[in-house]
Amino acid sequence: MTKQSLTVLACVAALGAAALGANAFAAGKPAPPKGTATISLPGDAGMAYKPGAGVGAVQAACLSCHSSAYVSTQPLLTKAQWTAEVVKMKNAYGAPIADDQVPVIVDYLTTNYGKP
Ligand code: HEC
Repeated sequence: MTKQSLTVLACVAALGAAALGANAFAAGKPAPPKGTATISLPGDAGMAYKPGAGVGAVQAACLSCHSSAYVSTQPLLTKAQWTAEVVKMKNAYGAPIADDQVPVIVDYLTTNYGKP
């Protein structure tokens, strides 16, 4: 038997097993679990952007792709470094940031997550 025909046989067997499984399920065996299941996801407690002037602009521009932890877990950056970061988000990753919002965002980041 060739390797190819073995593969075909394996596929036919898998399809058959799937069909049997579907039939067994349609007949009610095994029954799906009853009741309500709950799961807890990790919250974002403590991860919100700090309140402050310009926080609204930052929330609008920066939360669509990743959490504020990307900002709060950086070392304290200078204004020039935050400017480069915001420009990178805008130009390299396509963050939807209007040009007139860049200085507002950079000032907020430098004040709250930066160093002089
Ligand atoms: C369009 C999606 C998008 C938006 C919007 C966005 N980012 Fe990012 N950001 C990314 C991606 C992608 C990465 C890189 C993730 C990785 O490498 O794991 C990243 C990473 C970062 C990092 C980690 C350092 C680095 O350069 O990789 C910081 C800090 C950061 N973003 C800040 C911001 C700030 C501030 C804003 C708002 C001005 C923002 N991001 C908006 C996509 C985005």
